[in-house]
Amino acid sequence: MQVYRCRVCGEVYIGEEKPTSCPFCGAHEGYFVLAKEWKLIHSEVLSDTSKENLKKALDLEINNTNFYKAASEKSKDVHFSSMFKGLSKVEREHASTICKHLRIAKPESSVGADKAVDSDRANIEEANRREKSAVKFYGEAINQAPEEAIKEFFKALMQIESDHIALTD
Ligand SMILES: [Fe+2]
Ligand SMILES: [Fe+2]
Repeated sequence: MQVYRCRVCGEVYIGEEKPTSCPFCGAHEGYFVLAKEWKLIHSEVLSDTSKENLKKALDLEINNTNFYKAASEKSKDVHFSSMFKGLSKVEREHASTICKHLRIAKPESSVGADKAVDSDRANIEEANRREKSAVKFYGEAINQAPEEAIKEFFKALMQIESDHIALTD
């Protein structure tokens, strides 16, 4: 058995092999390293641009966390309810990680929850729209970030949200 750790969210995974994606934040396999070699993707100093984009990212991730949680609770189908639950957990992990970058406490908010409706199909369409908009935003944020670590962090998020587009297509 080995102890692995995610460079994007910092969570620990114990297993025979690395997971193909982080069970907590969804980061791809390449971001998992042995715990003894672990270093979080992190920037000591943040530019105003990155602070601004991290705050926008936080709003986006909190909104999506709440939307998915509500969609999961509304669904009567075990597959879709599970899918929305999983997506909510991942987006919540993103929000928590962004708060660590910004060195702030996670704000309490239920914004986004009222956007979930009773139809799974409509919620999946809304999910796909949200994930596409997240990928677009993170793509811009990568280009704007002066810090290599923040570029890498946004790149990891962009890959994860692209997986969510594929899931909801
Ligand atoms: Fe992770
Ligand atoms: Fe996502």
